[in-house]
Amino acid sequence: MVAEVAALGKHLALVGFMGAGKSTIGARVAERTARPFVDLDALIEKRHGPIPELFRRSETEFRRIEEATLADALAGPESVIALGGGAILSPLNRERLAVRAFTVYVDVDVETAWERVRGSDRPLAQRENEFRRLFFQRQRVYSEVAAAVAEDADGVLLASLGIVMGSEPFSAGRAPALVADERVLELHPLDLTGPTHTVPAGEGAKSLTVVARLWSELTVGREGTIVGYGGGSTTDVAGFVAATYLRGVPWIAMPTTLTGQVDAAVGGKTGINTPDGKNLAGAVHFPQRVVISSDLLSTLPERERRAGMAEVVKTGLLAGRELWTLPDERMVRACAAYKAGVVLSDPYETEGRRTVLNLGHTFAHALEVGSGYRVRHGEAVALGLLAALRLSGQPTDAVEEMLRPEPVEADVDVAWAALERDKKGEGIFVLLEAPGKPVVTTVRDQDARRALESLIRK
Ligand SMILES: NC(=O)c1ccc[n+]([C@@H]2O[C@H](COP(=O)([O-])OP(=O)(O)OC[C@H]3O[C@@H](n4cnc5c(N)ncnc54)[C@H](O)[C@@H]3O)[C@@H](O)[C@H]2O)c1
Ligand SMILES: [Zn+2]
Repeated sequence: MVAEVAALGKHLALVGFMGAGKSTIGARVAERTARPFVDLDALIEKRHGPIPELFRRSETEFRRIEEATLADALAGPESVIALGGGAILSPLNRERLAVRAFTVYVDVDVETAWERVRGSDRPLAQRENEFRRLFFQRQRVYSEVAAAVAEDADGVLLASLGIVMGSEPFSAGRAPALVADERVLELHPLDLTGPTHTVPAGEGAKSLTVVARLWSELTVGREGTIVGYGGGSTTDVAGFVAATYLRGVPWIAMPTTLTGQVDAAVGGKTGINTPDGKNLAGAVHFPQRVVISSDLLSTLPERERRAGMAEVVKTGLLAGRELWTLPDERMVRACAAYKAGVVLSDPYETEGRRTVLNLGHTFAHALEVGSGYRVRHGEAVALGLLAALRLSGQPTDAVEEMLRPEPVEADVDVAWAALERDKKGEGIFVLLEAPGKPVVTTVRDQDARRALESLIRK
């Protein structure tokens, strides 16, 4: 059995000093992951009255109440729980968190924290000297208890799916097996000490032939880790092999394309193509870690970058932020965090919440099929976004300026048939009420057909 990944199947607990912003960040993360939010101090006050008073009566008694309230919260449905600054001093709380929660340390600098709490009635924030002393003393404890550190909601979301930004070396467990796109390995050599298995560059890697070869070549054993290093094609196949080899071994994704970093490597979907079509065999198998280094994008051909930008624009429209205007690292981070939030809200796609990620994709898929896959995915997504925005009555300038979509050659009837199959006769589309407000809705056939036709060259 592969170990659970980060916050999947667990509570998400936020610890840190007073003034770190745990309550604000916690509420935001809860909203984005569709989990209940428990502000432990607020819950204690609701049940037992003002904390300063409880504290004055007896700190021991307050800590006992805090333990009981946390135990209660941990017994409930998977939530985001913001803990009071001192809650982790209790060994009982620490033990319970270790079993039931993924714990993130919300870090802040001492000046900011002090500015936020000075003048409040918090018992331990009355004298600055005392506050500072306690701050540095507690830092160590938080780091010990937490599995990750974050400074904002995006940071918490990324950590919650095991996503780390940056190129610093990482320990990939015992002798990991590297499954690498051969071209990427030439451009960006990577030495992880374990055996290296190369796969053909790009989409060609996603075949049963490659999978079968990897199944027979791999020697890592049940305790081993597979590292997928390349674009979405490589991480899709590496993840699929990890899901199936010895009935499943842990894996790490190191995406090297923009598409991989903002989309393919985030969310646990793995798979290969079959002679009947794309992604027809697969598994949901979350990587233990996703290591994202935007430096790797420097060698990306323009075409691949454009393809990735289509997913970036899609994400920006969904998030209601012009993420495409940010410098690479911040852009990738924000996009990956957005997807992580949606994925955490519905990790195994049982609640339909991941559907919003298909913005523009119903049309895109139809164009890909209608053109016999001559139209590339990114190009098709750009056109699909255009159609979705038009049907939503929303401005299309971001898509037009950033992606410059042009109508493509495709068979309208074949495309239409694919679109009908995709929506399974339910007429379901993702549209935008406004940027940041996706809705899953129905569209009249004649409107959908007209929108599709406008994307196809006459
Ligand atoms: N699992 C998912 O949720 C998901 C989501 C989106 C897409 N996908 C899949 O991802 C695949 C597409 O992946 P992709 O767009 O990342 O491209 P890719 O993996 O097919 O790679 C495209 C090309 O870029 C090259 N390349 C990769 N990194 C490079 C770098 N840093 N510098 C220079 N060249 C580099 C590759 O060698 C290849 O030639 C599709 O098969 C799609 O189905 C999966
Ligand atoms: Zn896509």
